[in-house]
Amino acid sequence: MTDPKDPRDPAYDPKADPKVTTASEEGVPNELPPETQTITFHQRLERNATLLLAASFLVVTVGGAVEIAPLFWLENTIEDVEGMRPYSPLELAGREIYVREGCYVCHSQMIRPMRDEVERYGHYSLAAESMYDRPFQWGSKRTGPDLARVGGRYSDDWHVDHLRDPQSVVPESIMPKYAFLDDTRLTGEYIGELMATHRITGVPYTDEMIVNARADFIAQADPNGDWDAVIERYPGAQTRDFDGNPNAVTEMDALIAYLQMLGTLVDFSTFVADESR
Ligand code: HEC
Repeated sequence: MTDPKDPRDPAYDPKADPKVTTASEEGVPNELPPETQTITFHQRLERNATLLLAASFLVVTVGGAVEIAPLFWLENTIEDVEGMRPYSPLELAGREIYVREGCYVCHSQMIRPMRDEVERYGHYSLAAESMYDRPFQWGSKRTGPDLARVGGRYSDDWHVDHLRDPQSVVPESIMPKYAFLDDTRLTGEYIGELMATHRITGVPYTDEMIVNARADFIAQADPNGDWDAVIERYPGAQTRDFDGNPNAVTEMDALIAYLQMLGTLVDFSTFVADESR
């Protein structure tokens, strides 16, 4: 028996097969769902270039305004907190090294207001705490722990050992070694210029701070330095030899001075969050 509707049959005739339709025939079955009102509306929009352009413009305008407008009131979102001050020259130099070495690739400085983070790292970060950070060090990509409040958590000696050879103190650490920081002496020759540059971006360094920048830079890590002057200009600054080598200011001194300051400027035992903001 022959069956023209069976593709396996030699007498097969596609025209006789109800499952096959060709484009030449009328009434090509529409695979799309029945047209709803939304689809009809969208088809009209997509087929009319002017209408589409006008509608896209409207969407982008509204979206843009929603994103940009809050920035005009950004100042309002920064709470005034006591204790924040611009970084001392040595801390600032340490911060430059931190950025240069890409420490931020593995470490953030932003404790988010989530319970696990607050329990591990301390009070969540306030906007004011990164007020003088250019560039900021926020982020949530953490290969290593957040460092926003690492200041005072370890001794200087621990930091020296850890930076020279992280695996010597944390065997399973994947942090690279930064022993060369020990060997690079810093003279602070251009630290005043660096502070003046930060002033352009809005950090309130005074003329007095800039004039004394180099002296303060050297004094902060010098056991015979004028520590009172440094502390007067930068309240809460920690003054001591940081790297165990009192004869020279090294990159190690600067970086540890910076790390030991992180998160120590605001006194959270007296801080009360302003709920009106
Ligand atoms: C490849 C990623 C990586 C880079 C780059 C890196 N770290 Fe780390 N860091 C880690 C890891 C992982 C840990 C946790 C293990 C340990 O303590 O070594 C850590 C731990 C630390 C700690 C101890 C934090 C704590 O609360 O226990 C400090 C401080 C630190 N790093 C500073 C730095 C500094 C400064 C730099 C740049 C010079 C740097 N790290 C670069 C991965 C990194």
